[in-house]
Amino acid sequence: MKIGVIGTGYVGLPTGVGFAELGNSIICCDKMIEKVEQLNAGKITLYEEGLEELFNKNINKNIVFTTSLEKCVKESDIIIIAVGTPPHPITKEADMKYIFAAAEEIASSLTEYKLIAIKSTVPVGTGDQVEAIIKEKTNVSFDLISLPEFLREGFAVRDFFHPDRVICGTNNEKCKEVIRELYKPISDNILFTNRRSSELIKYASNAFLSIKIHYINEIANLCEEVGADISEVANGIGMDKRIGDKFLVAGPGYGGSCFPKDTNAIAYIARENKIDLSLVEAAIKGNNNRVKDMAQKIIKKIKNVKDPTLAVLGLAFKGGTDDCRQSPAIDIIQEVIHCFENFNKKINIICYDPKAMPQAKTLIGDKVKFADDMYSVAENADVLTILTEWSDFKELDLSKLKMKQKNIVDLRNILDGKKAKEKGFDYTCIGKII
Ligand code: UDX
Repeated sequence: MKIGVIGTGYVGLPTGVGFAELGNSIICCDKMIEKVEQLNAGKITLYEEGLEELFNKNINKNIVFTTSLEKCVKESDIIIIAVGTPPHPITKEADMKYIFAAAEEIASSLTEYKLIAIKSTVPVGTGDQVEAIIKEKTNVSFDLISLPEFLREGFAVRDFFHPDRVICGTNNEKCKEVIRELYKPISDNILFTNRRSSELIKYASNAFLSIKIHYINEIANLCEEVGADISEVANGIGMDKRIGDKFLVAGPGYGGSCFPKDTNAIAYIARENKIDLSLVEAAIKGNNNRVKDMAQKIIKKIKNVKDPTLAVLGLAFKGGTDDCRQSPAIDIIQEVIHCFENFNKKINIICYDPKAMPQAKTLIGDKVKFADDMYSVAENADVLTILTEWSDFKELDLSKLKMKQKNIVDLRNILDGKKAKEKGFDYTCIGKII
């Protein structure tokens, strides 16, 4: 099939490359000239496990990139909209300007029938709005469906080829047939719903998972007070199949480009419709407060040290990605800096992340230093904190750490706390006292 993908971010690029790998002919469009030039020159623009390999295999064969949305539309039968829907800075509702701009441009480029699919996460009713925008500009026929993405960052390639389910919002039999054909090589588990249900399924899924994380984080707080161990408690809860063992890992709070944005967006939709989504509101509030609580775990160790040095392992919002958007690691670092400013005291912060340092430099590069590896970052540090669960960090050889004080604050519970204690470290983690 000939597919045009609008947007080459964490959704558009893996989607385009994935469909190219399945033998489709893909043309991806992005407004950023340098990005498109880089991609056409065979240089991938984001880190995603396994993606570069597939990209190299398909570039300039099954997949090409352009800045021309018109070309993208003209050369495809299916157009997938995968542009960003960032949160509005004040209301936190999803900002639809890129979606609507894409709709306008698609409308002006339509010369023959196309199937248009919205893959971006959008408020309920967006399909109707986009359809209206296009219909106002053109008489050319088209169908508009909702086709939400469920790709996890770091696992996007795996999730693309092995989806739990494909959700497709359309009542049109012709469109259903095209989507069945498109997904045939990877899934026959397609749930067709009406367009609004499909739009809501995406938000409701992410909100549910955010609530689950917020819940286990609160249970972790309780564990610390009553002498229970969150790993054991989560294991025990998760063995109940009705609850499930996924998304029960306590940590510094959820982050990334989806959960914070989508919880705020669904809460906004609910408020607009005078519906009380109190669980989602609680998760949002609890997750925001968690940054302060996590920062306090670190500050406690160094508050009374003169000019302390904090070493940070991990900046990405989770392991397996270079993405620092809404990363708890970045927020916690900023909160620590903020608290020390309030104390009128200095703090030196030095960070290391295997993939996310270039992104982190654009966010906090003026406030912290960066190290070359996970050992040099800890040299002369008063406390070492782990903020992202990179598998490399699990292998950390504590005997190689040359710290000024042997303090570890492991906010991802990835080290063996008992061993750390045996080696003379003061070890703090989440949801258990060791
Ligand atoms: C999410 C959804 O999972 C995916 O289906 C959707 O389409 C995009 O948003 P992603 O943002 O890549 O994917 O990350 P995910 O793996 O879901 O984790 C989100 C956040 O929750 C991360 O900050 C992660 O560290 C945190 N998390 C996850 C926990 O704190 N505990 C867990 O048990 C699981």
